[in-house]
Amino acid sequence: EAFDVVVVGSCMTDLVSQAPRLPKAGETIHGHKFFIGFGGKGANQCIQAARMGAKTAMVCKVGKDFFGENYIQNFKDNGVSTEFVGQTVDSATGAASIIVNDAGENAIVIVAGANLLLGGEDLRRALPALSHAKVMVCQLEISPDTSLQALRLSHENNVKTIFNPAPAIPDLDPEFYRASDVFCCNESEAELLTGVAVASIEDAGRAGEELLRRGCSSVIITLGSRGCVVLSAQEPSSPSHHVPTKPVTTVDTTGAGDSFIGALAFYMAHFPTMSLEEMARRANQVAGVSVQTIGTQASYPSKKDLPTDLF
Ligand code: RIB
Ligand code: NA
Repeated sequence: EAFDVVVVGSCMTDLVSQAPRLPKAGETIHGHKFFIGFGGKGANQCIQAARMGAKTAMVCKVGKDFFGENYIQNFKDNGVSTEFVGQTVDSATGAASIIVNDAGENAIVIVAGANLLLGGEDLRRALPALSHAKVMVCQLEISPDTSLQALRLSHENNVKTIFNPAPAIPDLDPEFYRASDVFCCNESEAELLTGVAVASIEDAGRAGEELLRRGCSSVIITLGSRGCVVLSAQEPSSPSHHVPTKPVTTVDTTGAGDSFIGALAFYMAHFPTMSLEEMARRANQVAGVSVQTIGTQASYPSKKDLPTDLF
């Protein structure tokens, strides 16, 4: 059976503290709320695609522990296939310590744990799904070699690929660009990868042009409340389009980029002829809903929560 969206990526248990501000080095401050949620960029993206109505599968690894068991149940509760979810006794389920300030900004430390044990053998087992999906999505919270191998496998089989280089690494293997149909990152990741300081929409356009030159078919750089810029190698003459977004009241931006990418994957699978700009405009709106509620996956809307004109 073919999936709309297959994600090869991470699962993390998010340990979230809300505090007035982010602490400085050596400082202790009082926060006002603590909660545990389901996170990890890969799983977040997969869950958002599933909630929009995509038929999804997750290729990932969790520990043989309480958090891992819970995570598998979370996928089932959201209708994500767990056929390719592995459990290992050699490492713990990934964890993310997150602090969210009153402005809705965050600081995150991830300990990837079991995520780093996802490897070639797991991909071989998932090959039928990887090579027949409509869209395959990868990030950088698992071993980069595993991500690249997954992108290569899908790309060779004409599966549309979305690569989200997050968290960014400075010396990214150049093959990542060539294997990406859509290379989607935020402003700080674009800056780290290209060396172009991204403060304005014009800067984002310039960074995007550099990423296109490296061989991606198209590039999206997300800019938070300013929306995103979209570039395509097919229109080299007027390459950068700014896609603005409606202003919303922001409570927690954690995982908003993942909501955007999950929605984008859904649109690419369900509306393959829609322009990338239109998909980005709609994905902006979905992510815009997620920032208005605390939590990562807990804040991701389902199809029934969204305006019908997004479908
Ligand atoms: O992108 C947000 C995610 O980053 C969080 O859910 C956290 O787990 C980290 O992976
Ligand atoms: Na949120």
